Amino acid sequence: MTDDRTPSASSLTAPDGFPPSPGGHDPEVLRQRALDALLTARARTTALTDSVDEGELTAQHSPLMSPLVWDLAHIGNQEEQWLLRAVGGRQALRPEIDGLYDAFEHPRAARPSLPLLAPAEARTYASDVRGRALDILEAAPLHEGGRPLERAGFAFGMIAQHEQQHDETMLITHQLRSGPVALTAPAPPEPTDAVSLPGEVLVPGGSFTMGTSAEPWALDNERPAHRREVAAFHLDTAPVTCGAYRRFMADGGYTDPRWWAPEGWDMVREHGLEAPLFWHRDGGQWLRRRFGVTEPVPDDEPVLHVSWYEADAYARWAGRRLPTEAEWEKAARHDPATGRSLRYPWGDTDPTPEQANLGQRHLRPARAGAYPAGRAPSGAGQLIGDVWEWTSSDFLPYPGFVAFPYREYSEVFFGPGHKVLRGGSFAVDQVACRGTFRNWDLPVRRQIFSGFRTARDA
Ligand code: AVJ
Ligand code: FE
Repeated sequence: MTDDRTPSASSLTAPDGFPPSPGGHDPEVLRQRALDALLTARARTTALTDSVDEGELTAQHSPLMSPLVWDLAHIGNQEEQWLLRAVGGRQALRPEIDGLYDAFEHPRAARPSLPLLAPAEARTYASDVRGRALDILEAAPLHEGGRPLERAGFAFGMIAQHEQQHDETMLITHQLRSGPVALTAPAPPEPTDAVSLPGEVLVPGGSFTMGTSAEPWALDNERPAHRREVAAFHLDTAPVTCGAYRRFMADGGYTDPRWWAPEGWDMVREHGLEAPLFWHRDGGQWLRRRFGVTEPVPDDEPVLHVSWYEADAYARWAGRRLPTEAEWEKAARHDPATGRSLRYPWGDTDPTPEQANLGQRHLRPARAGAYPAGRAPSGAGQLIGDVWEWTSSDFLPYPGFVAFPYREYSEVFFGPGHKVLRGGSFAVDQVACRGTFRNWDLPVRRQIFSGFRTARDA
């Protein structure tokens, strides 16, 4: 039995290119991976929700965000809908709460006034769901002849990614809250050869394979793999730094409409913007607030908390432009030695702590030039992790796109209103970050862990 908002697994048809290529994925390896991914996500969720008191869990720290306790029960509710009901065929545990945790029924600003589960109830609910989900995972047939949702453990991987995406959202809420410090983490590694790094790399023209049909847990918007022609271009080796961004500010960047898209200029004037979010001036010095600590803005760290409009304006001021999404992916994945597209800039193996700043291990981006082991064949670095990178591209479906397993994940957001971000941030786990992964947001958004790099035609 399933309710009417969740289709049963057997009624879903698989999109083109799904499941992955024959023989490529051992169900038992994927079962273990799914278990690890679910446990890793829950450890993160627990850390984010146990680090503040009950009052802070139910408070709304910003009208842009849900109370943390909403994210917690929403994580459980999505897991219940997809793993317990759709895959496991179970009855609803608490059918009356589905509407409360449907992101489309209630805007974030309205969520604190809903009759939400209290913190203790939300914790119990999420862990009851998890216990049942792990039982279902143990017995699920993950082989390639099975139902599309279960093949290669897709639904389990999708739900682990969903939880990690909300863990990033909850970290944004932590950044927006005021009050005593709740989270700390060690500093990321320092660059070793930054002085010898060129400012930009040349990516030669030619076609490459964009997207994927083989990655078992790639989400619908990353599919299918297809060829894209990309003309030669230059791309920044590292994301734009706070120091470079301050030169734009000092040169009157926020007071000169020449640099701004018309809607961006409206935003600057309406809100009196003069710096990235969380920055403030103290005498002659710029300070920033980061997870409750106020500190000088570091010159050589990638700039964070800028909107698409600010990234676009900076690029125009610098005589450059934002890269397209296809340019970004080619610079990150194309291997000229083999003609193949890699899963990650460094190859096909999962990220290590030496290759990328992911998973909330560090609560800040690493300095520009760090992670030499993570560089792509193009020579560009820090493409994965550190900061989400705005691209010039609208969020659009690839040719042959099929919504799977629900239209509200990607399809309803396609169009010119949302811009694509690539590469992941320090706040997202590797399960929800890869060379093909696509994120999107409104061009005015600044509370997200967003930065950018620039490009120019060759
Ligand atoms: C892909 C990050 C834009 O947080 O709105 C979470 C991910 N979708 N629950 C979001 C998502 C449903 C989504 N982003
Ligand atoms: Fe969600």
